[in-house]
Amino acid sequence: MGDPAAAGALHIHQDVALLAAYLDAGCPSFYHLAAGRGAYLVPTRGTIEVNGTPAAPRSGTAVSRVDALTIRATDAAEIVLMDLPRPPRTARVDARLRLDEGAGPWLDATSIGGAFMADFQTLQEIAHAARANLAQSAWDYLTGGGESETTLKRNRLGLDSIGLRPRVCRDVTQIDCSTEFLGQTVRLPVCIAPMGSLQLLEPAGADGVVRAADEFGIPAFLSSLTEPQIEDIGPQTNRPMVYQIYVRGDDSWVATFVKRAVNSGCGAVCFTVDLALYGRRERDLMKRYRPPTRQAGDLAAFHFQTAWNWDNVKRFKDAHDIPLIIKGIATAEDAEIAVEHGVDVIYVSNHGGRQLDHGCATIDVLPEVAAAVAGRAKIMIDGGFMRGTDVVKAIALGAHAVGLGKLIGMGLAGGGREGVLRTLEILEEEITTALGLMGVTRFDELGSSFLRSASPVVQPHLLSPFPFINFTDKGY
Ligand SMILES: Cc1cc2nc3c(=O)[nH]c(=O)nc-3n(C[C@H](O)[C@H](O)[C@H](O)COP(=O)(O)O)c2cc1C
Repeated sequence: MGDPAAAGALHIHQDVALLAAYLDAGCPSFYHLAAGRGAYLVPTRGTIEVNGTPAAPRSGTAVSRVDALTIRATDAAEIVLMDLPRPPRTARVDARLRLDEGAGPWLDATSIGGAFMADFQTLQEIAHAARANLAQSAWDYLTGGGESETTLKRNRLGLDSIGLRPRVCRDVTQIDCSTEFLGQTVRLPVCIAPMGSLQLLEPAGADGVVRAADEFGIPAFLSSLTEPQIEDIGPQTNRPMVYQIYVRGDDSWVATFVKRAVNSGCGAVCFTVDLALYGRRERDLMKRYRPPTRQAGDLAAFHFQTAWNWDNVKRFKDAHDIPLIIKGIATAEDAEIAVEHGVDVIYVSNHGGRQLDHGCATIDVLPEVAAAVAGRAKIMIDGGFMRGTDVVKAIALGAHAVGLGKLIGMGLAGGGREGVLRTLEILEEEITTALGLMGVTRFDELGSSFLRSASPVVQPHLLSPFPFINFTDKGY
């Protein structure tokens, strides 16, 4: 087989402790080979058996044309898995996997190379691939919340505590998931939520996310704290983006940002207001980890964010003729004030549970906000939305669109632009299935009569929507 290094550079690392934890969970133990393609396995440490046959140490073992293979570590082992027979289409090699001594002998890994993207059939596989690709610090940055992570878990608890009331014997032959939002026809009532430091998850960073949204047909919010910058991304997209701004200066500073947004083809701007102080993300703190968004230069101007108030909103509306979205509304009272200030989109959010701890689930807050807004503005929501049925619940309760944060981050980490695209395709399949099984063909047929309260069946946590992947959470 020659030198395995010749097959391509290694890009993907699976965390030792994660896999150990994963093995502890007793999940099935196979490596899936997409479309019967082969793999090349090189034990770089320890010894392994592949389908019951010992793999050659260091030089590796080729496995071709089997649907699945089992890998058994006979002691602590490190394995490199490579694509076979062709070099990977991207520079990406399937996975670098490690087994930890004492963690159990069985390894399970799902194919995660870019070349296999169309093979993802479920969102669970994408979440799994993301975890496999990310170092612990990046995974925790993506998925962690503030302090005890109660808000983060409540987002899921709220969604899991709503049951669906399907209507039957209705013709659902033609299901149309599209809708109108921000003056656009969108393929699904979802948007990419703004996320900072996306380059930590995948080198393409925001570029991969925005291009996938554009190709799929939904709007993307671009955080002012991610790479690449808006001037590099805007001209590449056909669909107007929303530029999300953290205020780091006075009104003239804001005006400069608005100009940048407009010149780059953005159709609206969004101010995030639930970050007057930076939440205490204990996973990061306990590792002494500082994401790029917390670098010194940024911190110096943070007081503008802290001082921002409704007077700023008023001055903004007086000075700028561009749709305004306020993100981080969590009460009917603030929704009312926002509407009075002429805000165009009320974005119900608790920052995915990353800011104030012991907040409420956003889905629980949505009905009071919808009642307060009473049709005078559009309503968005995010926080824990991971499944098609989650989206259906929010729209039935009065939201016009749902923001996706961590799920998209997982798509990006799991497979770059293609991974985000595949995530959206699978979500669309889930939504279509849910709508049809509920007896409706369009979102505007939904209402609260399709919902009732129900008991959650699992203890809510970040990955509770994906019960087939049982990572033991290291905590930090
Ligand atoms: C990695 C990451 C970075 C984020 N960065 C920003 C940001 O720069 N600006 C912002 O308004 N919200 C940011 N958020 C919050 C999201 O926009 C969104 O509110 C949240 O992720 C929604 O919850 P979900 O992740 O459970 O879908 C970030 C979220 C994540 C996961």
